[in-house]
Amino acid sequence: MRARSLNRDAPLVLGIETSCDETGIGIVRGRKLLSNTIASSMEEHARYGGVVPEVAARAHLEELVPALTAAVAEAGITLDDLDAIAVTSGPGLSGALMVGVGAAKALAVALDKPIYAVNHLVGHVGADILDESGTPFDYPTIALLVSGGHTSLLLVRDLVGDVELLGETIDDAAGEAFDKVARLLGLPYPGGPEIDRLAALGDPTAIRFPRGLTLPKDMAKHRYDFSFSGLKTSVARWVEKQQDLGNEVPIADVAASFREAVADVLLTKAIAACADHQVPRLLLGGGVVANARVRELATERAAAAGVALRIPPLSLCTDNGAMIAELGAQLIMAGHAPSTLDFSADSTLPVTQIQVS
Ligand code: KG4
Ligand code: ZN
Repeated sequence: MRARSLNRDAPLVLGIETSCDETGIGIVRGRKLLSNTIASSMEEHARYGGVVPEVAARAHLEELVPALTAAVAEAGITLDDLDAIAVTSGPGLSGALMVGVGAAKALAVALDKPIYAVNHLVGHVGADILDESGTPFDYPTIALLVSGGHTSLLLVRDLVGDVELLGETIDDAAGEAFDKVARLLGLPYPGGPEIDRLAALGDPTAIRFPRGLTLPKDMAKHRYDFSFSGLKTSVARWVEKQQDLGNEVPIADVAASFREAVADVLLTKAIAACADHQVPRLLLGGGVVANARVRELATERAAAAGVALRIPPLSLCTDNGAMIAELGAQLIMAGHAPSTLDFSADSTLPVTQIQVS
C-alpha cells in the first residue's frame, strides 16, 4: 500500500460488517455518523430457528453492493472521498466474514485506500462514541459486552490500545439464552426482541428463576464470569411441569421473569466490577443491550452506585457497519498504522486483539 498522509483529525471511514446475518455498511467522519445501512437475512434463517452460515454468506454476497451504494448515497459522499476502509475480520462465521473481508480488500486496492481490519466485539464496545453528542470515552471504563455469541466483562483502559478480559460466559451467551428460551416458548428467531416484547406484558416476579454464578461461593471463583445454561434449563423444566399439569403456560410471565433474571445477573456483575476496580464508569454494547429491561436496570443500578453509564442508541446495539467504521476512525485518530492486505477472516479472534495487522 502506498504511503499517504491520512486525515487524522476527522477521517472519513467506510465500515463493512458481515460477521453474522446482518450486512452492515456504515460511514463516519471522525465521531460523526453519516450513514448506517443494514440489510438483514434474518427472515431467511427464521424458518431454521437460527442462523445458517451458508445462507448468511450467500445473502452477504447479494446484499453488499446494494448496501454500499445506499450508504454512500445517504452520506452524500463518493468512494473517492474516503480516507480509509474498515472491516470486521472476526470473530464471527467464517464464510460470512470472508465476504466482507474480500469486499473490503477489493475496495482498498481499487481505490488505493488504507484498510483497517478490526475486531467486531471491540466495535460493539465503541458504538456509543457515535451518540448524538459524539463525546469521547473517559478511561478507564468497565465494559459489558452482551451479544448473541459473547457475554464478557472488560476493563478498557483504551479502546484502541488496551482491552482486558475480566470474565466471560462459561457456557451460553446471554443472546443465545434469549434465542433458546424463545424457541422453547414457541417464539420465532431471533428470540431476544420477541421475549422483550412479551415480557412487557408479564410479571417479572412471577417465577424466581436462578441467577447463575451469583452465589457467594461462585462469586469467589467466577466473580466476572457468566453462566446462562442453567437458567435456560430451569425455564424449560418449569414450562414442561406446567404442561404436564395441564396448565396453560403464562408465556408473558415466563418471558418477564426470565428477562429479569438475565438483566439482574448482567448488572450485578458489571457493577461489582466497577466497584472492585474503583472505576466509576460503565459502557454497554452488543445486541442484548437493545433489551428494554437491561437498559432500565442498568440506569437504575448505575445511578445507585454512582457510576456514569453509557448505553448506545438502539440502532447501534445490534450488528452494524457504523461501529466498525468508528473503530477504524478511532484507530486512525490515535495514529495507528493500517493493516496490510495479508490479514484474513478469523472466526475466533479474541476480544483483546483490537486490530489485525
Ligand atoms: O450483537 P448482535 O447483533 O450479534 C452478535 O454479535 O451476536 O446480537 C444478537 C443477539 C441475538 O441473540 C438477539 O436475540 C439479541 O442479540 N437481541 C436481544 C434484543 N435484541 C437483540 N436480546 C434481548 N432483547 C432484545 N431486545
Ligand atoms: Zn455482534
